[in-house]
Amino acid sequence: MSAGGRRRLGGVWRRRRPLRTRLALAVTAAVALVAVGVCAAAYVVVRSALYDQLDLSLTQSARLAAQRDPGHPPGTLAGECRFLAAPACAEVVPADPAQDPRPPGQLPVAPAAREVAAGERAPYYTNITVAGHPARMLTTDYAKGRALQVALRADTVEAGIEEASWWLLLTAAAGVLLAAVLGYWVSRTGLAPVTRLTATAERIAATRDPRHRIELPARGAAGREDEITRLAGTFNTMLGELEQSVTAQRRLVADASHELRTPLTALRTNAELLARSDRLTPEQRTRASAALGRQLREVTGLVNDLIELARDEEPTPLVEQVRLDALVEHSVEAARAHWPAVPFGVRTEPVVLPGVPARLSRLLGNLLDNAAKFSGEGLPVEVELVSLGAGAELTVRDHGPGIAAEDLPYVFDRFYRAGAARALPGSGLGLAMARQIARAHAAELVAENAPGGGALFRLTFREGG
Ligand SMILES: Nc1ncnc2c1ncn2[C@@H]1O[C@H](COP(=O)(O)OP(=O)(O)OP(=O)(O)O)[C@@H](O)[C@H]1O
Ligand SMILES: [Mg+2]
Repeated sequence: MSAGGRRRLGGVWRRRRPLRTRLALAVTAAVALVAVGVCAAAYVVVRSALYDQLDLSLTQSARLAAQRDPGHPPGTLAGECRFLAAPACAEVVPADPAQDPRPPGQLPVAPAAREVAAGERAPYYTNITVAGHPARMLTTDYAKGRALQVALRADTVEAGIEEASWWLLLTAAAGVLLAAVLGYWVSRTGLAPVTRLTATAERIAATRDPRHRIELPARGAAGREDEITRLAGTFNTMLGELEQSVTAQRRLVADASHELRTPLTALRTNAELLARSDRLTPEQRTRASAALGRQLREVTGLVNDLIELARDEEPTPLVEQVRLDALVEHSVEAARAHWPAVPFGVRTEPVVLPGVPARLSRLLGNLLDNAAKFSGEGLPVEVELVSLGAGAELTVRDHGPGIAAEDLPYVFDRFYRAGAARALPGSGLGLAMARQIARAHAAELVAENAPGGGALFRLTFREGG
């Protein structure tokens, strides 16, 4: 388990919940919170609306009682509110408790009521209990030094509020349940592409097979190009590249082992021959050991080429400013020594550019070697280096048979050798390596047939390469 899947909590590493669960929980919590909040608000509104109605009739009753009987002394003014259908009961309360003749009982008198009687306080409503029943009471100013208390049974309002609260509770519960279902659904559908992505990645990790791909919605489908789809697309591209590089590597290894088999067999034959040297004449022995040496050099060269090809970019510290014209002349000199029968012609202009001299002369060596090898003895090879101001162009041209049109696209492939070339020594790695070196120097190497016959290789260095 990676550290990313865990969270440090109180000094202990705990496994984090999967993303899907977290998303489901978050959606559920958000929707549930809204549902419960709406229900709570509805409760408050219903409750206050019901009480408002009661308060309104209390105010009307108080006004009527005061109009009907303006100067009543402290005491009961109207009826009893013990019965549900009875009209409001009303009492006059004096500011001074000592002047209160009422038998204790009917409506409770709070200190606040005395303050209203004394004119020190604004009228107010209270919820009270009269003879065991819920009731609502208005305490308001009456005559000087007296307050009027009016009360009404509140049973219906209380029952209404209770019923409403039950319904709202039920609604809230249903809302929470719906939220949970929604949360689950959202996390499932929303994360389905992520789940597919994860599954594919895991399958690749398990099988080490980069041929798997993530299914993408049809291109062009409006609104389907979301972040996850783009991520999946990028992932697929990456897989494609990985697959390509794995395939290329496998092919290189297969080709290399195939190419090595022939020289190694020849080597073994010669080695076995030399092991029984007592049965050979001195000339045979010399020939066999010379062949063995040559084959060993060939295999060594092949292995070196392979290693070089498998290597990537140049390490930067080796890059320096190279006098390309001097390097070309030096390489041609070496080629002349190696192919004395081939007349090399060279024409250069001063060019300095950044590069790795050893690798560049290897590239050149390969081109010159090919030109001499494939054109045949006596035919001239022309090398030309032109400075282009920003960059340079190097051409190597021979007067041999040239490259057949059907071979042209493939000559830079590893181990590719045209049918006509198979009789000559070589393994088909030279041009692959040359192109690789050119690319590492931001240069382009192309093959073409020169007008008038012969092959022409053009190496173009771009500015800043
Ligand atoms: N100057 C040329 N004239 C004609 N054909 C060429 C020339 N240069 C390359 N080719 C063709 O391109 C093929 C690939 O060349 P490359 O240099 O990669 O391999 P090679 O010379 O056969 O072997 P190696 O360079 O590994 O010794 C050659 O086998 C040949 O068919
Ligand atoms: Mg070659």
